[in-house]
Amino acid sequence: MSDVSVRKIHSYDRVVECMSDKSISIRAVLFNAFAVGGRVRIDNLLLSDDVLSAVDCAKRLGARIELDGNSAYIEGAPFASCELDCGNSGTTARLLTGLLAGLNGTFTITGDKSLSSRPMKRVTDPLKMMGADIVDTDGHLPLTVHGAPLHGIEYKMPVASAQVKSAIMLAAINAVGTTTIIEPTKSRDHSENMLCAMNGNVKVDGDRIEIGRSIIHSQYFTVPGDISSAAFPICLALASGGKCVVKNVGINKTRTGILDVLENMGANIKYSNVVNTAEPSADITVVGDGKLKPFVIDGDIVPRLVDEIPVLCALACFVDGVSVVKGAGELKVKETDRIATVTAALSALGADIVPTDDGMIIHGGKKLKFGVVDPKLDHRIAMAAAVAGAAGEGVKILDGDCVSVSYPNFYKEVIGD
Ligand code: S3P
Repeated sequence: MSDVSVRKIHSYDRVVECMSDKSISIRAVLFNAFAVGGRVRIDNLLLSDDVLSAVDCAKRLGARIELDGNSAYIEGAPFASCELDCGNSGTTARLLTGLLAGLNGTFTITGDKSLSSRPMKRVTDPLKMMGADIVDTDGHLPLTVHGAPLHGIEYKMPVASAQVKSAIMLAAINAVGTTTIIEPTKSRDHSENMLCAMNGNVKVDGDRIEIGRSIIHSQYFTVPGDISSAAFPICLALASGGKCVVKNVGINKTRTGILDVLENMGANIKYSNVVNTAEPSADITVVGDGKLKPFVIDGDIVPRLVDEIPVLCALACFVDGVSVVKGAGELKVKETDRIATVTAALSALGADIVPTDDGMIIHGGKKLKFGVVDPKLDHRIAMAAAVAGAAGEGVKILDGDCVSVSYPNFYKEVIGD
């Protein structure tokens, strides 16, 4: 890992091709690796470390995968017992735990230090209710799945989490009977959309999902851009009074909480080239031409923007008034405890930000200074710090190339001269 220095930007005016969506890329790989129906192509796949972890796991399980530029050719296979290293990828670890629970074989799942500190009990509890035999390490990785016969359950999820929901859905396709999942608030619905497209026996009614035994068929997908990555140039344009166009941004309603917040702040956002499919996309133009109002983020909107909170906090530093994030305790169990790491990162740049139990309070409008930030290897904290530094007085980011988890080329494409 190497450190990265980011200089103050003077007039930001940039056209960015949106980085491909990480959640959809990982699902496209794992679902097709398990599918029947033969070889299929995936276009515009994200080639980031997290997706490469998913590709590596799928290959170890038996799938054939060839990468060709931004495309992948995937041929599913019956999965065989093996050890799987998910690296930093929570989505890969959690979805695989569900997918493997009802199969024949023994599968050990490991991850890096950060992933090994993230909770797995939220996944293993419902899977065990379905009959799964999983031995974990104090509720964490490493864990071993001993494939077992599963049966459907009705499960009211205590937290809104697309990873947990998807793990249960993937276990349900290999279970006897129907599984009903009820979410407290709707989280990203890519698994629902993609499994439906793959012949999955899935019914969605608001926050309620019914899923039964299914044989999923290989399916071509072209992956749209990741709004969680688009958030960085968008917030940089707004924070610095500049302009950006981000092309081909995925605008699935379960992901666009950030755009709702920015519009409420008074941001000038325009949409063009809207493509209306199950995973819609659009080009987004943002002009930082007005005075923004501070935001309050609370409650139901959190799952629709949870990964964008670090960069929204960076933006809040440039907005006069008090911005507040509440009801976002989930931030504590991301790649780092993001309440602590965002607060430390922005404080190192002179921001007035105070952590709370379930969020943070930012008194914006205070001039930032140059500083050194340790994002603790968390890609989104590194990129949020880069935005605050570029719109402020510069920043040195320790191990700044940890952004490769989701946004290889981030510094060159979004920040560099
Ligand atoms: C993801 C779901 C979210 C998100 C993560 C990706 C997914 O996590 O933070 O970056 O692909 O399903 P949770 O399910 O833990 O909320």
